[in-house]
Amino acid sequence: MDFLYFLIIAACILIPSLKVSTAVDTIDLSQSISDGMTLVSQGGKFVLGFFSPENSSKRYLGIWYENIPQTIVWVANGAINDSSGILTVNNTGNLVLRQHDRVVWYTTSGKQAQNPVAQLLDSGNLVVREERETNSESYLWQSFDYPSDTILPGMKLGWNLRTGREWRMTSWKSPSDPSPGDFYWGMLLYNYPEFYLMKGTEKFVRVGPWNGLHFSGIPDQMPNPIYTYNYISSKDEIYYTYSLKNDTVITRMVMNQTSSTYNRYVWVEDQQFWKVYKTGPKDNCDTYGICGPYGTCKITGSQLCECLEKFSPKSSQAWNSADWNQGCVRNKPLNCTDKLKDKFMKVEGVKVPDTTHTWVDETLGLEECRIKCLNNCSCMAYTNSDIRGAGSGCVMWFGDLIDIRTFDGIGQDLYVRMDASELGEQEGHKKEVIIIVSATIATIFGMLLIGCYRIYTTRLNKTDSTDIIECNENRGGSEDDLDLPLVDLSIIITATDNLSIKNKIGKGGFGPVYKGRLVSGQEIAVKKLSRTSRQGMREFKNEVKLIVKLQHRNLVKLIGCCVQEQDRMLVYEYMTNGSLDQLIFDNTKSKLLDWPTRFNIICGVARGLLYLHQDSRLRIIHRDLKASNVLLDNLLNPKISDFGIARIFGGDQTEGNTERVVGTYGYMAPEYAADGLFSVKSDVFSFGILLLEIISGKRNRGFYTANHCPNLVTHAWSLWKEGRAIEMVDSNIEGSYILSEVFRCIHVGLLCVQQHAEDRPAMPSVVLMLGSESELAEPKEPGFYVKNNQGKTTPFTGQTDTISTNEITITLLEAR
Ligand SMILES: *[C@@H]1O[C@H](CO)[C@@H](O)[C@H](O)[C@H]1NC(C)=O
Ligand SMILES: *[C@@H]1O[C@H](CO)[C@@H](O)[C@H](O)[C@H]1NC(C)=O
Ligand SMILES: *[C@@H]1O[C@H](CO)[C@@H](O)[C@H](O)[C@H]1NC(C)=O
Ligand SMILES: *[C@@H]1O[C@H](CO)[C@@H](O)[C@H](O)[C@H]1NC(C)=O
Ligand SMILES: *[C@@H]1O[C@H](CO)[C@@H](O)[C@H](O)[C@H]1NC(C)=O
Ligand SMILES: *[C@@H]1O[C@H](CO)[C@@H](O)[C@H](O)[C@H]1NC(C)=O
Ligand SMILES: *[C@@H]1O[C@H](CO)[C@@H](O)[C@H](O)[C@H]1NC(C)=O
Repeated sequence: MDFLYFLIIAACILIPSLKVSTAVDTIDLSQSISDGMTLVSQGGKFVLGFFSPENSSKRYLGIWYENIPQTIVWVANGAINDSSGILTVNNTGNLVLRQHDRVVWYTTSGKQAQNPVAQLLDSGNLVVREERETNSESYLWQSFDYPSDTILPGMKLGWNLRTGREWRMTSWKSPSDPSPGDFYWGMLLYNYPEFYLMKGTEKFVRVGPWNGLHFSGIPDQMPNPIYTYNYISSKDEIYYTYSLKNDTVITRMVMNQTSSTYNRYVWVEDQQFWKVYKTGPKDNCDTYGICGPYGTCKITGSQLCECLEKFSPKSSQAWNSADWNQGCVRNKPLNCTDKLKDKFMKVEGVKVPDTTHTWVDETLGLEECRIKCLNNCSCMAYTNSDIRGAGSGCVMWFGDLIDIRTFDGIGQDLYVRMDASELGEQEGHKKEVIIIVSATIATIFGMLLIGCYRIYTTRLNKTDSTDIIECNENRGGSEDDLDLPLVDLSIIITATDNLSIKNKIGKGGFGPVYKGRLVSGQEIAVKKLSRTSRQGMREFKNEVKLIVKLQHRNLVKLIGCCVQEQDRMLVYEYMTNGSLDQLIFDNTKSKLLDWPTRFNIICGVARGLLYLHQDSRLRIIHRDLKASNVLLDNLLNPKISDFGIARIFGGDQTEGNTERVVGTYGYMAPEYAADGLFSVKSDVFSFGILLLEIISGKRNRGFYTANHCPNLVTHAWSLWKEGRAIEMVDSNIEGSYILSEVFRCIHVGLLCVQQHAEDRPAMPSVVLMLGSESELAEPKEPGFYVKNNQGKTTPFTGQTDTISTNEITITLLEAR
């Protein structure tokens, strides 16, 4: 026994490092870590040791997850070319990394140490502290103060104002070189400080200032089931941080120079992979300053950049060729001889401009802020510095306003200085801005139009579907389902009276639809998918998660899904005015839809489709656009429904060739109907049909005339060639239309239904054409599949072209 004891002691003396070879989390002055040995945090979460990045023979000191391979969360900035590296803590309390006698890396601590130890904590923080000291405030040094490319829960991004040190997250140079790259997330200490992704000295993406709730440029940053976030601003420190709601979740945020992105990952234990939970930049509108001064970037716009209202492109030539850098100038320059006469225009739903030249006073309210701004001719805009509650604090901008972007339904308000003559009597407050297009145009429900551009005064009702989201959070769920908006079956059963037949409001090819009402009073539509889907549950959930994120005012909002054994249901917001086909093809009801309303519907559908086609994360081809898939809200605004359903249902994912043909007779592009070839251009075709239907009030397929045209398209085409296109217009809108507008719409419609997909315009051009007066190309002959109906080229051979009052969506497998 004694002998054994002696052996152990001897071993410890002779080979001091043996002590740390088993799970030890601390070293003291007498110990060291050499290559091949590790420190393991007490709970076994993190490991400190030496590693080599992929394709590199160099050795680095780093920290990684004990149970997750190859995920380095921190690295010391120093490379060693062999395995002779050794880490010690010396008696002034500094970590020293040596290769033989050469010091490769070391830390500096401002404090004097007596008996320092280095410890790896379960948070992933490597700290140097006095042996007896446990107060985190008194650490001599900690790796959390020196982030590399990863921010773990509890780390900070911002500034320590006492020491003048910045906490910034910096990418590796490359996957095989962990030394700091030039892509980083940092904070610029302007009066109104803001966060940027920088590429070297260039601003790459402006995340924006903290506005009390979130970064101004990330308004969709929302409370979530995984982590809480916080922004602290005091005289000593100013930083952003986040912490876990449940310590069992593993998440990290990483800067990546290779892809120029930052990603938040969540570890999915079951499947052993890092799932991307959030990513940025989101889209082109995040590109710094893309629209120049006084331009605003709008991802759902007809083009990315628009000028602020009452501003025009500085160079319209550059602007029209998508070169927006020069930005916009005022239609009426400011004169400021009598500055108190100036007014402010409220711009809603934006990311506030670059804050380089700002001034902040947190004690002032909005009205005081206005007066303060008014009194200084170089103050160009103001708003609340904190938007929580009713808003508080004052921030003012001096000089040109740059890098604004507009969000749909979210974002904050900005008040921009204008010459008084540019605004009407009222100031500051939002009013309905009315643009008289023509004396004959009536106003419908207070909505007015200029081209396709509407001025929106309503904001997204943020309380929508709260009960569902809470319900979902309470479920806990597996990590995989964390951002899947699951709706409990019990909620659906209560809301729809157990999917009772009296609540059934429709039936499409994918299954029946029921109306329901949540306890909160919100009305929903529940679509029960028929069981023939070939898609696995995981794919189904993944698709729902993607589709749920698509939000646009012209898309019906998918609230969530419900999965019950074999049954799958989708829950949507409910649209009070039903579907377009019920109104437009009914001779009496269609009187409700005068020309301005119809034009609004056309433009709205175009914008919704544009969003589906060019949203940066996900390109959705609708594949079944038709009048019955356009729903109308209480103000008769159009919203496209059933988008993404082909994906959800398990059709092919992107453009290409599909075995499963999904679509509706009469709306299908010839190449899609015949060969299953679908693309954004087949959607454009369907849009063109829809457009002609809206103008004529007639279905493309139930259309017969004396001249034996098989359908509306051929009829429109023959009238067009004879210069009599206007004859196809629905007599119900005779009193309300503007000839040039209707004519233009017919023209655009015919361009959309051209036989060859490559001739058809893409949706960005369609939206542009509808809203402008530019010259349009002459349409070529339209295509429609009936014409090619010889032989066996189409799966529809033999179908007769009869009037169908109840359109049926086709989902069939092509016989092979
Ligand atoms: C490592 O090298 C292989 C072979 O040259 C290459 O395919 C791979 O992309 C490299 N990995 C990294 C991270 O550079
Ligand atoms: C490693 O670096 C040291 C000093 O920088 C140098 O003397 C040595 O030759 C290098 N060894 C190898 C294998 O490159
Ligand atoms: C500890 O290491 C640091 C960094 O190499 C050095 O500046 C300091 O003098 C060392 N202290 C002692 C007592 O050797
Ligand atoms: C954290 O999550 C685990 C596993 O999902 C669960 O068992 C535990 O109860 C949760 N803890 C808290 C405090 O919610
Ligand atoms: C960075 O992005 C590249 C390319 O997308 C990827 O291969 C790499 O793993 C990423 N690096 C990190 C640290 O996530
Ligand atoms: C500014 O307005 C005043 C008064 O309306 C006018 O006399 C003056 O010419 C204007 N100055 C400029 C530069 O437009
Ligand atoms: C207006 O504000 C700017 C920027 O803060 C300041 O330099 C200037 O002196 C102010 N002018 C007046 C008249 O107060």
